[in-house]
Amino acid sequence: MSELLQVVGLQAGYGRAEVLTGLNLRLRQGEVVTVIGPNGAGKSTTLNALMGVLPSRGEIRFDGEDLQGLDLEQRVMKGLALVPEKRELFTTMSVEDNLVLGGFRPMRLGQRDWREELPRVYELFPRLRERRSQLAGTLSGGERQMLAVGRALMARPKLLMLDEPSLGLAPLIVKDIFRIVARLRETGVSILLIEQNARAALEVADYAYVLETGEIALEGAAAELARDARVVDTYLGSARRAASA
Ligand SMILES: Nc1ncnc2c1ncn2[C@@H]1O[C@H](COP(=O)(O)OP(=O)(O)OP(=O)(O)O)[C@@H](O)[C@H]1O
Ligand SMILES: [Mg+2]
Repeated sequence: MSELLQVVGLQAGYGRAEVLTGLNLRLRQGEVVTVIGPNGAGKSTTLNALMGVLPSRGEIRFDGEDLQGLDLEQRVMKGLALVPEKRELFTTMSVEDNLVLGGFRPMRLGQRDWREELPRVYELFPRLRERRSQLAGTLSGGERQMLAVGRALMARPKLLMLDEPSLGLAPLIVKDIFRIVARLRETGVSILLIEQNARAALEVADYAYVLETGEIALEGAAAELARDARVVDTYLGSARRAASA
């Protein structure tokens, strides 16, 4: 598998407050890579720096090119897509119009079949088809999440970055979201997944990083990290206790 993303010595922060102090991360074509870690560790900061929403220093190689120096829109055109923690939909527009807007990348690249992405998204999220005319601002939390992911997929990204897709969702919908991540993986979409739900993230991912206070504290094959005593104690502890209770 070839390297899609290679991050070396990434530094980013807010004003004088350094958050990332030299982060290294890599992701190969077709992989699901997860970054887990405590609140405030810098997970969202990492995604925002990669996307170009936040300035950063260090090397970001994506699909053979250095992204530093490219702004957000240029990175979108290169094939990066971010579903941010705050879903940022066009609330006064319909579900379908939100999705169509997501298609501007393939449209601008002259891919005439870009609209064919729409039925694919509806197939992944039948609920969105049912609600295609509803205003995005009136959707439930879970439906908004589906729409945010669907809109990102409309861009036909090379790398889909998801910031806590399960946040605030009921367990059944969380299951749905992870099922969809697994399905996307099968269709060859590369995914960088940030999650609080470490157990589910390690189940779906190929490779995992543990980010603690701006640095990678641990990394390895997801299945191995799921067995690592430190990871189990810190991130999977309550689930283990629940399971053995
Ligand atoms: N816009 C901002 N201005 C100042 N500080 C910020 C800003 N955004 C984030 N921070 C700080 O940067 C640090 C890392 O935040 P970040 O959002 O990356 O954490 P996170 O790992 O995503 O946490 P969580 O799991 O809670 O989402 C935190 O201490 C946070 O308070
Ligand atoms: Mg975050």
